[in-house]
Amino acid sequence: MSRTLLLSALTFLLLPGLATARWIDDIVKIDVEATGPVEFSHYNHLDALGKKCTLCHNRVFNIVRSKNPEFTMDDMRKGKACGARHNGKKAFAVDDDCSACHPTHDIVFAVEDGDATFPHSVHTEMYGCADCHTDIFIPDQKKNPRFTMDQMSEGEACGACHDGDTAFSVDDNCDTCHDM
Ligand code: HEC
Ligand code: HEC
Ligand code: HEC
Ligand code: HEC
Ligand code: HEC
Repeated sequence: MSRTLLLSALTFLLLPGLATARWIDDIVKIDVEATGPVEFSHYNHLDALGKKCTLCHNRVFNIVRSKNPEFTMDDMRKGKACGARHNGKKAFAVDDDCSACHPTHDIVFAVEDGDATFPHSVHTEMYGCADCHTDIFIPDQKKNPRFTMDQMSEGEACGACHDGDTAFSVDDNCDTCHDM
């Protein structure tokens, strides 16, 4: 048996659900204005649930995407859409781990003396989205007001935590945040 054949036979034996479901696209991209796109992986789900399309189609999600309404997180908390399983019993609850479904990226603040970078992922490892959104930051640079370092020293924006106690202070460590 050739190496490729052996490999595919092995893949088939080890991952029967996956191997036979390859005819559908893995990733479905769901556009969400407030958070950026959510990428739903068919393969991850079929791997965990078995090759059972009818678990979701068309009871929870119509296969014709235009037939699905736009669900809110509150709908999901009430058991609709992803919340049909992501309820803390059958799978992690939607309130457990926002970043599992809503990936974040680093934010760059344009500053004349040297741009400041906010590394989202460093923070989402320690905090939930709701620790910052929307009380400290609106998740949209256009809607969010700009802050001065003086305001931050008084505890606003990054200064809510970067006060020398919870995290390193904004009164020094300039080059930890800024390109300077
Ligand atoms: C865990 C739930 C789940 C399972 C199981 C599932 N799907 Fe899906 N499927 C989705 C979701 C979510 C969407 C996107 C719905 C939307 O955003 O409108 C989708 C979309 C689709 C689409 C439309 C893709 C597009 O780009 O238009 C097809 C086709 C599809 N699924 C086929 C299948 C088939 C075939 C199976 C079984 C092998 C399957 N699905 C199993 C959740 C699931
Ligand atoms: C299991 C996956 C999943 C998890 C976990 C999740 N979301 Fe979502 N969220 C989605 C999907 C999918 C949509 C888009 C639904 C649609 O358009 O039909 C969405 C939509 C949203 C929206 C826009 C709709 C609305 O409710 O205003 C916001 C804001 C949002 N999510 C925030 C969050 C926050 C904050 C958390 C954590 C508390 C979270 N999400 C956890 C999957 C998830
Ligand atoms: C420690 C605070 C903090 C936490 C925790 C946090 N964020 Fe943010 N987030 C920010 C800041 C700061 C910005 C930038 C605000 C601005 O542009 O003025 C931002 C911006 C965003 C944006 C807009 C991005 C853009 O390109 O405009 C989205 C979407 C977002 N956050 C989603 C999330 C999600 C989802 C989570 C949880 C997984 C999360 N955030 C957790 C601080 C946080
Ligand atoms: C915790 C991260 C952080 C630290 C530490 C920090 N900054 Fe900033 N700084 C920022 C962010 C983020 C902005 C942009 C805020 C906005 O636009 O809303 C900013 C904005 C600025 C601005 C433009 C606004 C203003 O106040 O004039 C200057 C200048 C500046 N920082 C200088 C400094 C200097 C000098 C230090 C060290 C004493 C410093 N920063 C420490 C994150 C930080
Ligand atoms: C909810 C609290 C909180 C807020 C708000 C917050 N941070 Fe942080 N940040 C932390 C903590 C805690 C650490 C890690 C502890 C430390 O390094 O002192 C950290 C670490 C960092 C680091 C170091 C990352 C690394 O690689 O070690 C940077 C850079 C940073 N924050 C920038 C920012 C900027 C810029 C803002 C505002 C846009 C901000 N943070 C807002 C709590 C916060």
